[in-house]
Amino acid sequence: MALHRLTRITIGVPNLAETSAYYADFGLLKTGENTFATADGGEQLRLVHAPTRRLVELGVGVDDADDLGRIGAALARLDLALDADGRVSDPATKVRVQVSIADRITRPAEPAPLYNGPGRADRVDARAPGVLREQPVRPRKLGHVVLGSTDQEASQRFFTDGIGFKVSDEVPGIAAFLRCSTDHHNVLVQPAPVPYLHHTSWEVEDVDEIGRGAHHMLEGHPERHVWGLGRHHIGSNFFWYLKDPAGNFSEYYSDLDCVVDEAIWKPEVFQDMRILYSWGPPVPPSFIEPEDLAALMAGAHSS
Ligand SMILES: [Fe+2]
Repeated sequence: MALHRLTRITIGVPNLAETSAYYADFGLLKTGENTFATADGGEQLRLVHAPTRRLVELGVGVDDADDLGRIGAALARLDLALDADGRVSDPATKVRVQVSIADRITRPAEPAPLYNGPGRADRVDARAPGVLREQPVRPRKLGHVVLGSTDQEASQRFFTDGIGFKVSDEVPGIAAFLRCSTDHHNVLVQPAPVPYLHHTSWEVEDVDEIGRGAHHMLEGHPERHVWGLGRHHIGSNFFWYLKDPAGNFSEYYSDLDCVVDEAIWKPEVFQDMRILYSWGPPVPPSFIEPEDLAALMAGAHSS
């Protein structure tokens, strides 16, 4: 029937133990020494050793064998092929994509927290749920990954024409927000001098959980802060970006646009600051160009 979700990612890092401790702290549930689950998505992160940080593998879930056949035929038109395990590599991001038949993520509808506003007391005689929560923040699922590619156009074609991602919004000449589910975006490929992982993004319930999660992560670790709290224009989501000990950014997000009916959703082209955000603190230069980019380039040239 269709692509419907990201399944699991594998990130290679030089400092496995330290990075593993970071993601446990981030709220992912440890399922093995270096594997982690989200609350709704099952096992969604595997860390492996690599000389320099990078996204090794990205899993995409489909409904049935017909989807695999259709993807195989589309990849053949790009002179690529799925191996027996459903794997194919994108040459310009150096990421291996594994396509597999997977269950859809199903979640019971939960009541939205009640907010008061001018002339509108939806929550009376009670404190806000966001200030009463005490349990650790637990990301519900992996939402998206952003990758640097040495050939942005080719990588984007790989994901759209090859795997079957759809374009939700576009920034001409720079990137497109691509989805393989009803999430506004699951993958974004941006131009870069070296293939690298810019960030992974993890969904939490609401903006309070983003704040609580970041608050916890920054206690005693101010070096983890990258950018937040803010709200993106493209995708609409609230965000807070943090940095793992290998240099990968990890984002808590909530309230992302959801695309169910393609006839109603209108993809747009953006060319101004809305590319980055609607509001928030000034964009740190290290978000645009991570501080270890030169080292990653040197690593790529020596390997
Ligand atoms: Fe993001």
